Amino acid sequence: MARYSDDVLNEVRNAVDLVELASAYVRLKRSGRGYVGCCPFHKEKTPSFHIDADKQLYHCFGCGAGGSVFQFVMAAEGLDFPDAVKFVAERGGVRLPELGDDDSEDIYRRKREMYAMNKAAARYFRDCLFSTEGEEARNYLQRRRLTSKTVASFGLGYAPKGWDGLLRHLEEKGFAKDMIAEAGLCIRNEKGHMYDRFRDRVMFPIFDVRQNIIGFGGRVMEGSGAKYLNSPESIIYDKGKNLFALNIAKKSKRGYYVLVEGYMDVISLHQAGIDCAVAGCGTALTEAQARLISKGNAVYLCYDMDEAGQKALARASAIFNGLDVKLKVISIPDGKDADEFIKKYGGAKFEELLESSSSVTENKIDTLLSRYDAEDVGQTVELLGEAAPILAAIGNAVEREAYIRKLSARTGISVQSITTEVRKADRRDSRRQQREQVLRNVYQNRSQQPFAPKSRREAAEAKLLGILAEDREIYVKIRDNLSPELFSEGLNRDIFTEIQECYKGEEPSAEQYLMNRFERREEELAAVIIKSDDPDNRLAAAEDYIEVIRGEDLEKRIAEAEKNGDVVLLAQLIKNKHRKAGT
Ligand code: CTP
Ligand code: MN
Repeated sequence: MARYSDDVLNEVRNAVDLVELASAYVRLKRSGRGYVGCCPFHKEKTPSFHIDADKQLYHCFGCGAGGSVFQFVMAAEGLDFPDAVKFVAERGGVRLPELGDDDSEDIYRRKREMYAMNKAAARYFRDCLFSTEGEEARNYLQRRRLTSKTVASFGLGYAPKGWDGLLRHLEEKGFAKDMIAEAGLCIRNEKGHMYDRFRDRVMFPIFDVRQNIIGFGGRVMEGSGAKYLNSPESIIYDKGKNLFALNIAKKSKRGYYVLVEGYMDVISLHQAGIDCAVAGCGTALTEAQARLISKGNAVYLCYDMDEAGQKALARASAIFNGLDVKLKVISIPDGKDADEFIKKYGGAKFEELLESSSSVTENKIDTLLSRYDAEDVGQTVELLGEAAPILAAIGNAVEREAYIRKLSARTGISVQSITTEVRKADRRDSRRQQREQVLRNVYQNRSQQPFAPKSRREAAEAKLLGILAEDREIYVKIRDNLSPELFSEGLNRDIFTEIQECYKGEEPSAEQYLMNRFERREEELAAVIIKSDDPDNRLAAAEDYIEVIRGEDLEKRIAEAEKNGDVVLLAQLIKNKHRKAGT
């Protein structure tokens, strides 16, 4: 049977946020790094339905339902797998290839090749930066106060002056002219002659979250021409679905994002330790991009203070409206952008700006309140009418309540009355209630097998697998200590074997790979690798889990030896145990 390629499935899965999608069916509350709610798939009073927002998996500890956004839609909408994929693709604005032709595999191959070509181009630009012709560019970056560490971590480079340096380099490496043109690294004129797009520019590679280079921005140093030239869109580069530096910011421990306008702003912020900064790709912000960063606790919008910047800010805040995100605005004094501000005052002062920023909702409510005359009953009604939809749009229940209280204090209208108005304004809320009811009816009869609690060993294996699936670096560090036999036979061992297989390639994380390999067992997969906590030091945690598993394994073998009366083995095992414990 024809099936969508892994690449297509990954793209679709990434296009939609499970938390946002599931919120239409179930009322979710943030809990640690994830979300909990009452399971929409079986009847319960205390919430045991969990969503791991990072892994984009759900799992109900009550009835065992679980999986990715696809399984959720299959269950919630009663669809089969291909239709669930279509449903999600539509939501996320992804165009699916027709199933049945071989197009998708072909596209997949071409994408791989284009990634490889961009990587070769980035290496070339980097080498040029550090060659004699790159001297001016090196000086430029130094004037911009970028350290060599920053230059290296962003993979910055220099496109030299000639007309075909990159073209010749890529052809030597065996990349076809058509592909070079398709990726926009070279331009083909009407006569069919090809020349380098980027000449005498500082080069900023743009990565997707899987660390593939999907395009470039090139800045002039001085002189004429547009300040930036950018790669055009291509089969691997959709400017509306990627954000500059999201690959790095995604790993930040800050739990929020700072959205700025320029590549240079992002880089300056990262250099100053604010490692959660991202920017668009030279185009206006899209909803897909907003969704990508709405999973954190908050998004700080930091736009230029000029008119264009403030217009862009208004547009951006409208796009975020309705997503579950705490939106904050940072105003940089003296009309500077983030980069200039940091250069002048340093990163610590920027952190102060973060702390003193106000939320967009707060701004709106304050504006309403400032126009309002407390003596006038008519105005109070009007005020509430205007405030209700603003408050209803706040996804976070705690934040919403805080504003309701504030409004109540200022107007003297009871919290309860305002809440009623806000509920009425929240159409999402009533739609959700309807859906919840429908789902409950459908799933009334689902057999309820309470989930067997995990043994100590199973729990340690699951947590270890969760970390390994997420983070290649940790896998690489401890792989000498790992083997399939470490994991219990069956599902856990299968998962580990697939992780091993995945990391033979260059993927930074195995999660997508696993979801594709366990397409029909995603429910079981989710139950194992879903994350209930996120240890600060994952490496140490992973090592601890290995210890626990080894310890439990030893106990099991001791018990077996005891049962079989194998005294020699027993003595040996007990000796091992004491050696391990250091006694
Ligand atoms: N941009 C673009 N093409 C231009 C100008 C700007 O694509 N001709 C995009 C780039 O993504 C740029 C962003 O708009 O990063 C913001 O522009 P600007 O503030 O002018 O650039 P900075 O990155 O701040 O660069 P610099 O500080 O070097 O001026
Ligand atoms: Mn700037």
